[in-house]
Amino acid sequence: MTGEWFTASAPGKFVILGEHAVVYGKPAVVVAVDRRITCSVRRSRKNTLNGEHIDFNKQPHFRYLTRDTHYGMDYVTNSQIPPGSGMGSSAALSAALALALSNERGGYMTERELVDEAYGAELYAQGSGSPMDASACVHGKGVAINIPDAGSKELWTISRGDRTWRVTDVDVPDMTFVIGNTGIKAPTGPQVDKVRRYTEKSHFAMDVVDEIGSVTLEGYDALHRNDVETLGRLMTHDHKLLSILGVSCNELNKLVRAALPYSYGAKLTGSGGGGCMVALTDEPEKVCEAISARGGTPYVVQTGVEGARMELQPSNDPLLEIPMDYPRM
Ligand code: PMV
Repeated sequence: MTGEWFTASAPGKFVILGEHAVVYGKPAVVVAVDRRITCSVRRSRKNTLNGEHIDFNKQPHFRYLTRDTHYGMDYVTNSQIPPGSGMGSSAALSAALALALSNERGGYMTERELVDEAYGAELYAQGSGSPMDASACVHGKGVAINIPDAGSKELWTISRGDRTWRVTDVDVPDMTFVIGNTGIKAPTGPQVDKVRRYTEKSHFAMDVVDEIGSVTLEGYDALHRNDVETLGRLMTHDHKLLSILGVSCNELNKLVRAALPYSYGAKLTGSGGGGCMVALTDEPEKVCEAISARGGTPYVVQTGVEGARMELQPSNDPLLEIPMDYPRM
């Protein structure tokens, strides 16, 4: 006996400013994008993922999120977000899966409950990190972390150990961003660990983290003023600070350099070590060409998108449609 399908989706994201430093409670600004992961679930006699037996030991997000599911399930995922690329694929998967599962059980989840589930899955899978990705993928649009702004709406506050992240809503600006994917997959956990080891042994590294925090606060103001020149300059500065922390790589630097002549600024986005960069520009075609010419895959980002949501039930059995891009975290 198999049950009916329940399908949810969640968007990927990119970070305008503040990745890595946000792990230490510093500010960050992050925006959801028009690339989503869709996850369908139904009760089943077996446990399958995209038609094959699921090995929960190799799928920590599934293992965590199904910890209270004591029956077989079929899971089907379909992703437009390149995995391991700094675009929040694992947080988006976690948010979509958690939402689909709660609906399958006839439940209802608030955004806050969904963030706790998605962040819990991220921590279970990678051991450390901030609730930034989970917040952006659940809420959509734009979110700011630890930015004092009396005019913005508080979404939630999450604490872990001596760190606290106050998450607020950001009006997504009407600016053009181009993403460039190096094609190199770099999981988040090792990059976060690298920065942690560096900050533990060097005061200098902690100063760099503090400076990323200051740059992000300045950038948030520039964003509000629609001041693309200042924001772009701060993004490029942030890229240099992230490079000092050791999370850039030759391929990312190459794409950032290629984009800069046609951009207000450019930087890596997400955990780095590969994955994607982002440029702020009003010449998106030229930036796309420059990124392609250096071997990257460009794409012009649409922002202001909805967060995690239920989708209409697929008319076909999603298992009959072989997923094109199955996210491997
Ligand atoms: O590479 P992504 O999409 O997982 O983004 C990671 C962002 C970090 O700030 C590096 C880590 C975190 O948990 O905030």
